Amino acid sequence: MEKYICVKDLENAALDLLPKATRDYYKSGATEEQTLAENSTAFRRLRIRPKCLVNVERTDLQTRALGNYVSMPVGISPSAMQRMAHPDGELANVKAAEAHGTIYILSTIATSSIEEVAQAAPKATKWFQLYIYNDREVTKSLVARAEKAGFKALVLTVDTPLFGIRRADIRNQFTLPPHLKLANFDGHLSTKIQSTKGGSGLNNYVSGLFDKSLTWDAIKWLKSITSMPIIVKGILRPDDAVKAIEAGCSGILVSNHGARQLDGVPATIEVLPEIVEAVKKYNTEVYLDGGVTTGTDVYKALALGARMVFVGRPALWGLSVGGQAGVQKMLDIFRTELEYTLQIAGTPSISDITRDMVCHESVYCKL
Ligand code: LAC
Repeated sequence: MEKYICVKDLENAALDLLPKATRDYYKSGATEEQTLAENSTAFRRLRIRPKCLVNVERTDLQTRALGNYVSMPVGISPSAMQRMAHPDGELANVKAAEAHGTIYILSTIATSSIEEVAQAAPKATKWFQLYIYNDREVTKSLVARAEKAGFKALVLTVDTPLFGIRRADIRNQFTLPPHLKLANFDGHLSTKIQSTKGGSGLNNYVSGLFDKSLTWDAIKWLKSITSMPIIVKGILRPDDAVKAIEAGCSGILVSNHGARQLDGVPATIEVLPEIVEAVKKYNTEVYLDGGVTTGTDVYKALALGARMVFVGRPALWGLSVGGQAGVQKMLDIFRTELEYTLQIAGTPSISDITRDMVCHESVYCKL
């Protein structure tokens, strides 16, 4: 693993290794992929303003998210069908999160079941990403199983009445390889994604399965069937963040679904400040995913008010390259880069990273 010194190295190696349909599925964004590019370039438009001569002999990356201890503010975002990347799939990922003392968010559309994941890493803090299926009994059973298996929060995806248009998946007629199943389901729900009626198998899968009529009332319903806290994932507007809190959510994950839903939406780091501002009176935690590939990206998100960030594709790249060891390497890289950043920026602990540590490049445009 020594040869990989940054997340980009893992990405390049993974892209070389993966079969075309899987590679394209993981890396694609929606339509023109403008937002996909913006998710990372928007970070480059921010500048860190370091403080000098601060004692940084001891750094402290630890923090808490929804009361859960994390050894560093970088967790693993949900991504679907991880066994396409490596035979150990979700199990490797959750074990790596456990080894690093951070949070793993399991996708509904996983190739390992809730119970397998819980068993593989009993000590990891696990959150469960939920899609609400038309069949509310199916949804209820997923929620009950996650709660029983010790998952600590539900992460409700709210940006997906249907999946976005990913052109490569349509061209490749993407389907789940036949040796894999959607492990949280039985019968046709576990294999329907393998049907090949042309186009993207994923889009075919959800048509008729996801509840397009969902409104904010869904949160009330979820709260009536679980005592797990609910985090909403996919918020890009301050008014929606407020609605989520008023509906009873405990956390906001600012996300554009890895730029896979609607092209032309803002980069997540661009909308973070207005969302943090809108919810500050509620004391609700805000997290971010999308385009985070370096320790300085993490730092910038924290300075702009994120409690923690999550990474999706970087975990898939690590997983593809080396299973659990590859994901641990990815987390090692973030840990090291974040430690360097804390020290050189003169902010030795997470709580030292205040808003004034980062500004937009336009501040310097007058020069
Ligand atoms: C995707 C879903 C499964 O983006 O989250 O492909």
